[in-house]
Amino acid sequence: MNSVEIFEMGPRDGLQNEKRLIATADKIALVDMLSQAGFRRIEVTSFVSPKWVPQMADAAEVLAGIHRAQGVRYAALTPNLRGYEAARAAQADEVAIFTSASEGFARANLNASIDESFERFAPLMAQAQQDGMRVRGYVSVVTDCPFDGPVPPADVARVAERLLALGCYEISLGDTIGQGRPESVDAMLAAVLDHVPAERLAGHYHDTAGRALQNIDVSLERGLRVFDAAVAGLGGCPYAPGAAGNVATERVAAHLAQAGYHTGLDPAAIARAAEFARTLRSNGDGNA
Ligand code: HMG
Ligand code: MG
Repeated sequence: MNSVEIFEMGPRDGLQNEKRLIATADKIALVDMLSQAGFRRIEVTSFVSPKWVPQMADAAEVLAGIHRAQGVRYAALTPNLRGYEAARAAQADEVAIFTSASEGFARANLNASIDESFERFAPLMAQAQQDGMRVRGYVSVVTDCPFDGPVPPADVARVAERLLALGCYEISLGDTIGQGRPESVDAMLAAVLDHVPAERLAGHYHDTAGRALQNIDVSLERGLRVFDAAVAGLGGCPYAPGAAGNVATERVAAHLAQAGYHTGLDPAAIARAAEFARTLRSNGDGNA
């Protein structure tokens, strides 16, 4: 049977945008529930500036508190060497660096140009290679940028190829504000695939306009077999105005099952985690 992996983003991409500070114990409880659902990779937190993203200030405590399940890799975002060293000290199993296909979003999210973001990645990657740490790479705003408008596919291909050349084991393509259409995602993938093979790519689609599942379908057609998703559709990016959450894990899992793909996930365990996740959301069942 054809297999597809869902990389669970809820605890990081999902929770980072919540205005109300979520208790560390609740973050740990969410990760522990997700650890029972059959994921092979869960993005737990970010080692970023707490001034930029206060919600992730307890990154080390969350990683220290979770019950690590066998066969699950626990990942963390790291924008620079300082974040990398903290993630390694907290025993993240892998890290992810993140940059942008547009200059406008790089500036808003990282206070850097694209080139400057790569200057920060170089020492991080050198240290990661020495440590044998796996590093994933994200390219944000792969079709539409909230600051610069439509993003040329060639710009995405250039940044994806740069991340691959730097040593990232996989490049995740982010439709950060969820404005991608099947046609624009397809054109973007066509350009990227000239430089990066499908086995090294993942789709990371936010569902702002409700087109994420269609965008996953065109990506499957193009040979992608890894998709990022967040349980209960939690989240968004605090530096991307108007961004909604990642496409909901439970919807992607059901959609893939219906199309005959095997994900290895337990729908009941995901449903329990989704129910809990909704209680953490300020506009959900939680009272904040
Ligand atoms: P900066 O202000 O340009 O840099 O931020 P700085 O070096 O002047 O640092 C500012 C302060 O942060 C300093 O503290 C540093 O020490 C501290 P101060 O001296 O003022 O007290 N600092 C750190 N603290 C903890 N951990 C660190 C760290 N580095 C510096 N690693 C910086 C530059 C990159 C740090 C900042 O812009 C930042 O943290 N940005 C992250 C923003 C972010 O997390 N965005 C959301 C995640 S990305 C996303 O959601 C997209 C994605 O899902 C894909 C998609 O959907 O497209 C991945
Ligand atoms: Mg995202």
